[in-house]
Amino acid sequence: MKKLLTLILCLCTFGVTTASPQNSPKDKFVSKLLKQMTLDEKIGQLAQCTYRGNFTGPDGGNLPKEEYVKQGKIGSMLNVIGIKDIRRYQELALQSRLRIPLIFGLDVIHGYRTGFPLPLAEAASFDLEMIEEAARYNALESAADGLNWVFAPMVDISWDARWGRVMEGAGEDPYYGSRVAEARIRGLQGSNLADTATVMACVKHFAGYGAPIAGKEYNSVDMSLGQFANFYMPPYQAAIQAGAATVMSAFNDFNNIPCTANDFLLNQLLRKKWSFKGFVVSDYNSVEELVNHRYASDKKDAAAKALNAGLDMEMVSTCYLTYLKELIQEGKVKESVLDNAVRRILEKKYELGLFEDPFRYCNPARSARVLNSPEVRNASLRMAERSIVLLENKGSVLPLAPQIKSVALIGGLTKSQWDMAGAWAAMTDRNKIVTLHDALQQKGLAVNYADGYDLKTNRMSGLQEAIQAANASDIIIVAIGEKANQSGEKTSKVNISLPEEQQKLVAELKKTGKPVIVLVMCGRPVIFNEAREHADAVLCTWWLGSEAGNAIYNVLWGKYNPSAKLPMTFPAHVGQIPIHYQQKSTGRPTSLKQAYTASYIDSSTEPAYYFGHGLSYTTFGYSNLNVKPGKTPGIHALVSVKVTNQGLYAGEEVVQLYVQDKTASVTRPIKELKGIRKIKLEAGESQTVTFSITDEALGFYDNDMNYKVEPGDFIFMVGGSSNNLQQITFALKEHNSNKK
Ligand code: BGC
Repeated sequence: MKKLLTLILCLCTFGVTTASPQNSPKDKFVSKLLKQMTLDEKIGQLAQCTYRGNFTGPDGGNLPKEEYVKQGKIGSMLNVIGIKDIRRYQELALQSRLRIPLIFGLDVIHGYRTGFPLPLAEAASFDLEMIEEAARYNALESAADGLNWVFAPMVDISWDARWGRVMEGAGEDPYYGSRVAEARIRGLQGSNLADTATVMACVKHFAGYGAPIAGKEYNSVDMSLGQFANFYMPPYQAAIQAGAATVMSAFNDFNNIPCTANDFLLNQLLRKKWSFKGFVVSDYNSVEELVNHRYASDKKDAAAKALNAGLDMEMVSTCYLTYLKELIQEGKVKESVLDNAVRRILEKKYELGLFEDPFRYCNPARSARVLNSPEVRNASLRMAERSIVLLENKGSVLPLAPQIKSVALIGGLTKSQWDMAGAWAAMTDRNKIVTLHDALQQKGLAVNYADGYDLKTNRMSGLQEAIQAANASDIIIVAIGEKANQSGEKTSKVNISLPEEQQKLVAELKKTGKPVIVLVMCGRPVIFNEAREHADAVLCTWWLGSEAGNAIYNVLWGKYNPSAKLPMTFPAHVGQIPIHYQQKSTGRPTSLKQAYTASYIDSSTEPAYYFGHGLSYTTFGYSNLNVKPGKTPGIHALVSVKVTNQGLYAGEEVVQLYVQDKTASVTRPIKELKGIRKIKLEAGESQTVTFSITDEALGFYDNDMNYKVEPGDFIFMVGGSSNNLQQITFALKEHNSNKK
């Protein structure tokens, strides 16, 4: 605790006030407006209510929403869908005394009307430009339908696939998670919030939501500050530095204080240290839930604790609306604290251009032109192709030859538009989704379909039909996995193994002697050791959205050479979780040969598939690994490697750079990703890839959250997967700036 206080004091020295630069037109406008506002009107700006209730929690009771909006007692609404309703509510808001417009927010997690791959799937592309482009299209469609705020991206790092929400993030790695966070912020927000092709982003869930104890949704989070700073914090910080307009507090507690009322996270770290100028919204109902946490004695106490800790807008629950006035009159909350929160919200309304034109996002012609347009669908297709991970390709069974004309297609998932949309895809036009079954038929292939197993019970069903279909076809494609509602919020599992009978089906199909291609459709790392053993090829196709079927077809038939890599380790056994590649050495480093080392007696410590693993139809060779001192200030070294496409197909490779700090003043992982480069090479072509080594690649946070770079030996490792790397050593002689 003493340390935490020292840390807070130390952070305070970075002190930056929340007031925006004086005299800008925005500041003048907002200050003038603020002066005219009554206490009730100010409190109203902090309230966000839901239009169509209880998606992910209670609906906020019987709030007379329309009346409140008219009286200026609501600042924002979520879950209002479509221009018609958004316009209607905005008109009501303009009937209020000061005519302050509403902000309209929604969970646009991976596409609005056009479904895009799950965020975790997109992350597998390791294609930051494409990820940014996908986010840009998500914003375009959302803004075209009246929205100006999306509750994305989720940047929570997770090492625990039992937690179903991993599907919404970028996986396990803080370096890569940070780059994805930045790409998504750039894509959603562009360079001008008032541009009607963009929306405000909301970085969530601050902080540590991806590390619930035992993988149990909404559970407590308990970690050291060093662990937080090095592994969980970076993507939030990167998103803020990329200009994220808003932040959502997490449901969980952090350091024994619920995030929704966590002064250290919201006031000290976010605002003072990172100079965040936007506003913070609570998660759904989480202000009221401070009472359940037993951190607040009642809703009034919850309101005081949350606002004083820096939580600006309350989503759905109504503690602020009900009690803030009293709290201010009693002196338990200062009016200046309220004013700061209101100011931050009004500033965003100003930046969105809402004061200038409250209906700027409500243009029916634009909506008709943009939603589900060929351009957006094309982006979804490109993103989907790039998200598919080729996990196995025994005997190079893939890509399929053009001569293959008949396919045994097994498994209801290949036909299910609902599931292809994936979890958390409320607005996706599911009836416009191309399933794999549709795609194969449209390509003129003879499709012999059989269920193989029951999608609801996962029991084998109609094995004979499946075998007949297999015998009548050139090739077998079987989809196993989860239904879409098996991942996402509130879907924690104690067992992430795929159902036994799904896997047995693969074994049975293999007995026909025909090549078996297994498609694993899932929203999280899953375990399928038996199916894997019998499969000739395995593709992790996640949930890919509107163009899923076309994307899978293109990869199977080699129209797109797979280039994705796993952004999360796939364990071999559920008992290995939490699992991730940034393991530390420990005093007794893991050894497969020796007892009394960091290992298990009933299982290997090896995962099924490593972070960064993913095959291509070609192979890439790495040679000439070299390191030399950097010549420009700030660049300590340049690491270069020659990558050669040694196969017959053009392909893309994700070149990965990992770093090990050989000895440090705190224990450090054996390897940490510190650079990626996705390159395209023609067959036979080579390219030399060079990584610049800066402080960011060498440093770490100590236990007091000071950033340090310590002189000494470093090992640089380069390759195409975290378990297949070449290495070279480098000595950093001296370093003078040890604080960030
Ligand atoms: C989720 C948030 C989401 C919110 C609004 C909550 O249950 O945790 O991520 O933005 O609901 O739908």
